[in-house]
Amino acid sequence: MREATIDVGAIAANVARLRRLTGVEVIAVVKADGYGHGAVRSAVAALEGGATRLGVADVGEALALRRAGIEAPIMAWLHAPGEKFEEAVALGIELGISSYDQLLAAAAAGGERAAVVHLKVETGLGRNGLPPAEQHRVFAEAARLERIGRLRVVGIFSHLSNTSEADDRAALARFHEALVAAAARGLAPRLRHLAASHAAIALPEARFDAVRIGIAMYGLSPFADRTSADLGLRPAMTLRAAVAAVRRVPAGQGVSYGYQHRTSAETTLALVPLGYADGVPRGASGGGAVRIGGLVFPVAGRIAMDQFVVDVGDHPVAVGDPVTLFGDPERGLPAVEEWADSAGTINYEIVTRIGPRVPRRQVST
Ligand SMILES: Cc1ncc(COP(=O)(O)O)c(C=O)c1O
Repeated sequence: MREATIDVGAIAANVARLRRLTGVEVIAVVKADGYGHGAVRSAVAALEGGATRLGVADVGEALALRRAGIEAPIMAWLHAPGEKFEEAVALGIELGISSYDQLLAAAAAGGERAAVVHLKVETGLGRNGLPPAEQHRVFAEAARLERIGRLRVVGIFSHLSNTSEADDRAALARFHEALVAAAARGLAPRLRHLAASHAAIALPEARFDAVRIGIAMYGLSPFADRTSADLGLRPAMTLRAAVAAVRRVPAGQGVSYGYQHRTSAETTLALVPLGYADGVPRGASGGGAVRIGGLVFPVAGRIAMDQFVVDVGDHPVAVGDPVTLFGDPERGLPAVEEWADSAGTINYEIVTRIGPRVPRRQVST
């Protein structure tokens, strides 16, 4: 009735492309269930495409990957207050460290194997990361813990706001200052990483030793004015359903809650069994469009929890016909960005929120 196909061949090819473009290591970001594509399959595909490391937000996500048999290095950078890292360290999960307390907790969690950490510095985003005033104390303690074998500092990193090139360059300058301060305390981490997809592509000076690639590995563009095809990327997710009901109605028929749409002439309404519970944004009511049998039809009226209606006019649409909401525009399918624009959001949010009721089917092309 509904499915999202995930093209793991596209994910591997996108990673390989970004690897070649940037010329540095790729940390594949598979948080939030691989941006809705499935964390494990996305991780496997990214590693096949040449990624050397995986990135997730929290330790729970990292442990799930490890337990699923992923042996590659995995880093996690967003932690609960007072979080203990014993299990993470025992399973070789690398920790992003944003505070002195987290540094001490990571060192304390080391048993037979020392914790491996990436020190995160604040360069302007205003989220986590060590502010400049904290950096000296944390760098000095990290260097001391490393000397006595309690900790290994493998990375130093930050994250950009993508506000403007000038803002990202200012953050880059702050990152350089942090690198100098870290070196002065005796730290020489092998992996300096700052860029996510946007800067990895647009700001070569931000590439350093590794780039953390999320949205682009799923084949979607981080830019408002450049498409996937412009970047040589292939969208990996295609969202489809089968028409669940078809009804011939007269002019003046109200459609869906609130009758936001009324038919202007006799027409055919087709029911699509996907709704906001599945991540199809209610905000795209009246704006999104789907493809049925080679033609594109707009959503008629409000998107409901489980379903929405399209007005297909006099076209011969039948129950069971495939309906595509989005996929690869190079294959003639609507772009996910059309849904994002209609809903006033970004491609990241659309794919990440496709819900658990939509089965994922893995393909490789
Ligand atoms: C710290 C960090 N690095 C990298 C990424 C990947 O970003 P993108 O999907 O824009 O490549 C994210 C995602 O939000 C992130 O939080």
